Amino acid sequence: MSSDTTPLVVDQLIDDRRTRIIVCCGSGGVGKTTIAAAIGLRAAERGRHVVVLTVDPARRLAQSMGLSSLDNTPRLVTGVRHAEPAGSMHAMMLDMKRTFDEIVESHADPDRAAQILANPFYQSLSSSFAGTQEYMAMEKLGQLRRADEWDLIVVDTPPSRSALDFLDAPQRLGRFLDGRLLRLLVAPARLGGRTGLKMLNAGFGMVTGAITKIIGSQLLRDVQTFVSAMDTMFGGFRERAEYTYRLLRAPGTAFLVLAAPEPDALREASYFVERLERDDMPLAGLILNRVHRSPAARLSAARSLAAAETLQGLDDGESTALGMTALRLHAERMRQAESERRLARRFTAAHPLVPVGIVPAQPDDVHDLNGLRLIGESFAAT
Ligand SMILES: Nc1ncnc2c1ncn2[C@@H]1O[C@H](COP(=O)(O)OP(=O)(O)OP(=O)(O)O)[C@@H](O)[C@H]1O
Ligand SMILES: [Mg+2]
Repeated sequence: MSSDTTPLVVDQLIDDRRTRIIVCCGSGGVGKTTIAAAIGLRAAERGRHVVVLTVDPARRLAQSMGLSSLDNTPRLVTGVRHAEPAGSMHAMMLDMKRTFDEIVESHADPDRAAQILANPFYQSLSSSFAGTQEYMAMEKLGQLRRADEWDLIVVDTPPSRSALDFLDAPQRLGRFLDGRLLRLLVAPARLGGRTGLKMLNAGFGMVTGAITKIIGSQLLRDVQTFVSAMDTMFGGFRERAEYTYRLLRAPGTAFLVLAAPEPDALREASYFVERLERDDMPLAGLILNRVHRSPAARLSAARSLAAAETLQGLDDGESTALGMTALRLHAERMRQAESERRLARRFTAAHPLVPVGIVPAQPDDVHDLNGLRLIGESFAAT
């Protein structure tokens, strides 16, 4: 790493009591869930009362945190080491459908809620609409913050294909729900009884007729009843989306962008950083995860290969062969480390003000509290 990079010290973020929300984001598979859980554990062991909101954690990692099923409720994680003052860690897995159902239940009277929950269009929207998961993660964050039982909320985010999905989610679902298409679809039903609007109605009729052909009349009827039933809730959805958006921009929030030290992941990370900056989101820094380091960093790749050549010249048996292999592996590792450093420098050249933190690649997958604790060690100042 070049000396002009500002190091990101996650411990400072954790230890600052003003930090109330940490959002881990980044492209698919870079370690969002792992790092979010590791930050949660580290913070709890440094005395904070933490809840970690995970999205789709790997089974073994979930089990190690005591999460055996999607129940949408924070559970106390056992095995957290006590600090002075004592902290605590809760963890939960997001159940997006359940979260959506709860919004409906809390906003509509019981009959209407039952009608909405039974609606097939609602059922497919709540379990599969692109963006629902992003939106529900944000909704849950809002709920956890309002509950005010924790002094730090660590949020893992869904693997969005596009970085934009995540930030756009609150507005996008709001827009979708009170969007013009749905208003148009539902308009004939609403305008039906009125006089003087027959012409208009005929126009809508043609539009809905065309849409009916495409999406099917049963689905259209489902959408219409759904939207009519949801009508009173539109304001509520928008308000909640705006609340969450404000929460994300608040000074107590810190965004961490995660990336693997690979060209594609870093390109996505750059894009994400720019997007967060454009939206004035409080970006704390970039975490490069799974970085390779060699235990013998003073032996360069070139010298290592030269030594292997020399050994090859000797050609006297098994131990020489072993030595050669080790030296070549070492050279390979050093080259990889060098290329990772180059990529990090390129990122810093493009974003000189963004602090960068490093998390080393562990020899194995991270699936228990000990593994999380090891990851957490790289959050300390060096
Ligand atoms: N520093 C690390 N060293 C070794 N393995 C790691 C490290 N960080 C993450 N992993 C492993 O990489 C895999 C992917 O990590 P994780 O599930 O946290 O990524 P993610 O960004 O949440 O993925 P998704 O986008 O699919 O949600 C897991 O098997 C995890 O154990
Ligand atoms: Mg994940």
